[in-house]
Amino acid sequence: MKVLSLASLLLCSSAAMAHYSLDYPPTRGESESKEIVSPCGGFNDVGARIQFPLTRGFVQVNSGHPNSKVDVNIAYGNNPSAADFTAAADKPIASLTIDVPRKACMTVDLTKSQDAVDNTNATIQIVYNDGHDILYQCSDVVLVTSAEGFDLTKCVNEKPTGPTPTVAAAAAAVSVKSAATAVVAVLMAAALAL
Ligand SMILES: *[C@@H]1O[C@H](CO)[C@@H](O)[C@H](O)[C@H]1NC(C)=O
Repeated sequence: MKVLSLASLLLCSSAAMAHYSLDYPPTRGESESKEIVSPCGGFNDVGARIQFPLTRGFVQVNSGHPNSKVDVNIAYGNNPSAADFTAAADKPIASLTIDVPRKACMTVDLTKSQDAVDNTNATIQIVYNDGHDILYQCSDVVLVTSAEGFDLTKCVNEKPTGPTPTVAAAAAAVSVKSAATAVVAVLMAAALAL
């Protein structure tokens, strides 16, 4: 019993350490214990801004959990309020479902957003649902047409490791094929009976 609870404690703490991180653009701040605090993981003061491109931008996250969901929202203005983030969450600028822990580059295109014009201050919010908790991070940016300060090399899509989804997909394809064969066989039998 004692061993069991120690094991579960270790499991919990390692899971807690591996939540996720916002790797780019730079986070306003990350604190494991405050990440559950909306809207910015406990960091309420606007930080340094980096340039974020209006077209072909991206958000780089590192997800430590399987079966998690990442939403990226954007709130415009110099210091968006909690209400601004709530409104922004109605129309995420990117969303991703993560099956296995990995680094993921989420592309963001703001050209369809009327508020996104050259030289607009905004805050990008990452809402990470790990299946148990909702974890928040923010990044303060200035949206620009030509973002020379934006580092394109930070976009990394790590190949999923562990059980490969392709095996399941292949098995599913085979079973679909055999189901189709069965249907054909039934139809042929019916045709012969006539
Ligand atoms: C954008 O924010 C910076 C501080 O981060 C500020 O100096 C600048 O005036 C703001 N721009 C606008 C258009 O308000």
